[in-house]
Amino acid sequence: MAILITGGTGFIGSHTAVELLNEGYDVVSVDNLSNSKKDVVDRISEITGKPVIFYHVDLLDRQSLRKVFQQHKFTSVIHFAASKVLSESISEPINYYRNNVEGTINLLELMQEYGVQQLVFSSTAAVYAESAQSPLTEDSPCLAETPYGRTKLFCEEIIRDVHNSGKGLCAVILRYFNPIGAHASGLIGEEPNLNPDNLMPYVAKAASGEIECVAVYGNDYPTKDGTGVRDFIHVVDLAKGHLQALEKLQQSPALYTYNLGCGRGHSVMDVIQAYEQACAKKIPYKITARRAGDLAEVFADPSKAEREMGWKAQLTIADMCRDSWTWKQRCQRA
Ligand SMILES: NC(=O)c1ccc[n+]([C@@H]2O[C@H](COP(=O)([O-])OP(=O)(O)OC[C@H]3O[C@@H](n4cnc5c(N)ncnc54)[C@H](O)[C@@H]3O)[C@@H](O)[C@H]2O)c1
Repeated sequence: MAILITGGTGFIGSHTAVELLNEGYDVVSVDNLSNSKKDVVDRISEITGKPVIFYHVDLLDRQSLRKVFQQHKFTSVIHFAASKVLSESISEPINYYRNNVEGTINLLELMQEYGVQQLVFSSTAAVYAESAQSPLTEDSPCLAETPYGRTKLFCEEIIRDVHNSGKGLCAVILRYFNPIGAHASGLIGEEPNLNPDNLMPYVAKAASGEIECVAVYGNDYPTKDGTGVRDFIHVVDLAKGHLQALEKLQQSPALYTYNLGCGRGHSVMDVIQAYEQACAKKIPYKITARRAGDLAEVFADPSKAEREMGWKAQLTIADMCRDSWTWKQRCQRA
């Protein structure tokens, strides 16, 4: 019996594959490689000493996806595969709805057809309303403000409806805050093919001299140093949350929603300073205008995940920056 991971060569999928393999699960990974590289599969095996079965498959290609379900008996699916760049979702909404919503529907249909009843779904803090006050709980109002956020909110609703239809689907919806960092081995990390719009890849590039400086979008927010505050979480802590979610489904199959964050905010300047410590150099940055839609402060109340799944983030912002820098240096050598 194996776990199917969609988006398994991506940033969070690859780290989750490592944690699953380390815990003795068999892993089958599918990815269309639109935002990741095939050699991640070998690097996952190098870290764990265990094989990963990989299929280069697009979730929109139902026939190819069906073949994967025909070849393996899955206990559970962890569904990461999606397009995730907020700004791109505003200019390419149709592609985002097709990829994220249709991909999820195809997967749910095949799960139903092949009797796979446990799903862990990657959602996001972007489903919460801009007006919701941090710390955000799972009961904070949801009103996604971008097409990307809406694709995730719609998928959550679809999953709820399928669960409520009584055909056996149980699911854990995980709303991630801001995953950063990399595996401590330096063998896997954030390696997007597409231009990201999150902070960390740019901090890492500025540290390595690939770009002149990091753009800091606004320093006039009502925060301690004027820059935006987010709930940064180490990707390995986040990956471990998926194992807790699988256990939760095995122990009491139902539908759950949990925030995965550290429960405290760090400002953009905090991250830059922590990265300077990690790489032992100054990171040039430039204050620019605020970005439309960016909020002053967003952080989670992750206490429900701790109470109900026994999950709590362990790693610090210093750990996140150290591991990201180890990974960045490896990328430069490669
Ligand atoms: N990284 C974040 O900041 C963040 C925050 C909140 C939620 N999420 C969600 O977590 C999940 C994983 O994010 P990530 O950071 O690892 O992103 P990622 O882009 O690194 O990984 C996603 C993977 O899915 C693949 N993919 C995309 N569409 C596909 C399709 N139709 N068929 C097969 N494969 C496909 C991509 O090639 C990529 O490897 C996504 O659903 C994302 O929306 C990410």
